[in-house]
This record gives sequence, structure tokens and C-alpha cells, in this order.
Amino acid sequence: MKETTTLVEYGVPIDAQSMVTPPDTTELELEPGHPGLGDEGYIERRRQLFHLCRKHRLENLGPPLIDYTAEETRIWREVSPKLDELHQKHACQMYLKAKRDLAINQKEIPQLRHLSERLRRETNMHLVPAEGALPYRTFYEYIGQRGFPVTQFIRHGSHPEFTPEPDMIHDCLGHVPPIMNHDYAELLTLVGKAVSATQKGEQVLALKRFSWFSIEFGLIEEAGQTKVFGAGILSSTGEIPYSLFSREVTRRPFVTDVVINTDYDPSRMQDHLFIAPSMPFLRRELEALVRRFGIPVT
Ligand SMILES: [Fe+2]
Repeated sequence: MKETTTLVEYGVPIDAQSMVTPPDTTELELEPGHPGLGDEGYIERRRQLFHLCRKHRLENLGPPLIDYTAEETRIWREVSPKLDELHQKHACQMYLKAKRDLAINQKEIPQLRHLSERLRRETNMHLVPAEGALPYRTFYEYIGQRGFPVTQFIRHGSHPEFTPEPDMIHDCLGHVPPIMNHDYAELLTLVGKAVSATQKGEQVLALKRFSWFSIEFGLIEEAGQTKVFGAGILSSTGEIPYSLFSREVTRRPFVTDVVINTDYDPSRMQDHLFIAPSMPFLRRELEALVRRFGIPVT
């Protein structure tokens, strides 16, 4: 039966059904204000990668090997050392170990195809090439099948420390390393399976918030200190110190019922964050939530 409930997301009412049947984008679209607008060379490169990655995604070919340009390499070499310096101080141990094990370095842009092979050996996860940000439900359908969608394009060179959309720096330096952790991989997979199995928009929204405040913007307790493991924080030189030290940020213990009822605005720095005591804790909390929702997952 069609659901007609109205939910609130990002402060505005949305049709609950839109959480369940997402739209599909078949052509590259850069949002208004994107720093690449007007740069024909950049747009052409983005178009080329959009169609290549979309083809590889739809035909299950795995991430294509990309011949990165000198400009793309320049951006990587500018941004990744700055992030790495912050990671060494503020990222959780699980992330730092994974980054070393994956041999992600600051000189060469990693090939997602190779990272995917390594993840498969470690946690039985793999990477799915994505042409851009996929609709939430499509995104989590892949994850439910142990595939994490990742972009392969790089942000515009005029603002190397800023991207209005998830790019490969966000994905590769934020999302990929934690997938080497067993509990994290199982947490991801369960979110994916649960989102794919439910037909209730409010449950999708709750699971989306659970993953936003953990996978995307999670903080974690480690030996009496607060460390970062969320990809949205780890891939931003501004967000790392802001999340840990800004007085404008409230940092509360991760309580699932509070988290799933907390709205957020993805277009700005995050000023409400939650600190999880451990990764196994998050996994148990999610398992309990999925059971409570009565979502059948196998
Ligand atoms: Fe992300």
C-alpha cells in the first residue's frame, strides 16, 4: 500500500515515499554555485568519468582503472598531506591502522580497483564505482550486498579544500579505510540490508540518521579521549578541528533513540555530534534497532 505519511528532513516536510522510491540521475548535473561551473575542461572530464563509472556500476564491472591527470594528482598532493597531519592527531586507531594497511599515500591517487581487492580479502566487502552521489536507498542496496559505492572524480582545483558533493578524496580518505574493520563492515552491511528490506519511509529516515551520526559524522571514545571515525569529518580539514574543539558543537553520548530523532543539515558544518563508546557498541545498537523495527534481514 502506498505510504502517505509526511516526514521532516533537513528541516522541511518530505513525502515518506520519496525515501523508498528514489529518483535516478542519468546525466551529470553540477549544482548551482559548484566551483567547476564554467570550466569546460573540468565539466568534460566529469562527464567522461560519470558515464564510465555508471557503465561499470550498472554492468557490475568493478571500479575502472583511471589514468589521473596532472591536475587531479596536483589536487591530491595538496589536500591529502594536510588531512594526514590531522588524521595522525585526531583519527581513531582503527582508521589509522587501516590507512597504513591499505598503503594509501600522499603522492599517488590510489586506484579504487586495488583497494577493492584488498577489502574483499579483509572483510569480504568491495567497492562499487559510482558516477556521483547515488540516491540513499540505491546506495544502501549496494551496501546490503557488501559493496560500498565510491566516486572516482576529484573536486575542482580552484578550491582544493572544498567540495559541495562527495568526491574520491571524501570517499577514499573518509569511507574506505574503516571498511577494513570487521565490526564497521558488519554495521554498514546491516544498515544496507535493513534499508533495502523496509517499505516504511520513517524507518529509512531513522536508519539514515543512525548512519549519518556514525558512519558519516561519528566520534568515538578511545582511551579516555574523543577521536574521529566519521568520513564526513575525516575528509575535511575544517571539520576535524571543528568537530572536536568548537564551542558551537554539542557532543553527546550516542543514544540511539536520540540519534534517530535528530534532524541535520548536510549543507553546513555539523554542530550536533554523538560520541560512541566503541564500534561493537554501535553494531549491537543497530542490531537492536532493526529487531525493534521488525525488519526481516538475513
Ligand atoms: Fe559520505
